[in-house]
Amino acid sequence: MVTRTIVAVLTIGAAAGVGAAGQHQPPAKPDHMQHRFDDPAKFAKSFDDPARDAWQLPSRVIEALGLKGGMAVADIGAGTGYFSTRLARVAPDLTVYAADIEPAMVEHLKSRAMSEHLKNVVPVLAGTASPNLPKPVDVVLIVDTYHHIGNRAAYFRDLRKSLTASGRVAIVDFRKDAPEGPPVEFRFTVDQIETEMKQAGFRLDAKHDFLPRQHFLIFR
Ligand SMILES: C[S@@+](CC[C@H](N)C(=O)[O-])C[C@H]1O[C@@H](n2cnc3c(N)ncnc32)[C@H](O)[C@@H]1O
Repeated sequence: MVTRTIVAVLTIGAAAGVGAAGQHQPPAKPDHMQHRFDDPAKFAKSFDDPARDAWQLPSRVIEALGLKGGMAVADIGAGTGYFSTRLARVAPDLTVYAADIEPAMVEHLKSRAMSEHLKNVVPVLAGTASPNLPKPVDVVLIVDTYHHIGNRAAYFRDLRKSLTASGRVAIVDFRKDAPEGPPVEFRFTVDQIETEMKQAGFRLDAKHDFLPRQHFLIFR
């Protein structure tokens, strides 16, 4: 009985951040930025702002992915469809899985694909541990979403099963010195991203430096 009481006290202490010597510990630093994107109309104002094209250079990003008709690509963290809709226009027989964790974004992607007559966009409701892709893809594109994914080494290790044998993962995310973006603790260096991706079994295949605000890295 006495032992059980001590175990209970220690467990509660650990949950509250009380260390062995009784001092309060700072809470563990989160490994990703938690943020809801449940209002597509509000986010569309910035995600689909035509002024974004000047620094996002979507045509150059898509060109660097080397996509061909017949391939399948997944846009993980598709948001309002800025990249998904452009990817879909590369070729009518390119399948674009537009995966997002927010049900409201998935609904928005469905109606946007329908109104823009993009039959090759397939909206998918993603989970925190997996994008829930229905079949393996040739390319995964992740724009401004890497920093929202938690437990990344495990996430990307698991993502390997959603890639074809020559599949690639393209990550676009904010540089430390970008004039806008997430708080600085959720902006990573190339070394940080490369280290995490190595832990998940990927190697850096290409590093593009033409985006003024973001890193653009492609892993195999
Ligand atoms: C900053 S927005 C970027 C949207 C889009 N990629 C763009 O460039 O316009 C991040 C998006 O990722 C989604 N998201 C966050 N965590 C995610 C996860 N673990 N899996 C899939 N989507 C996620 C959010 O709901 C949001 O729509």
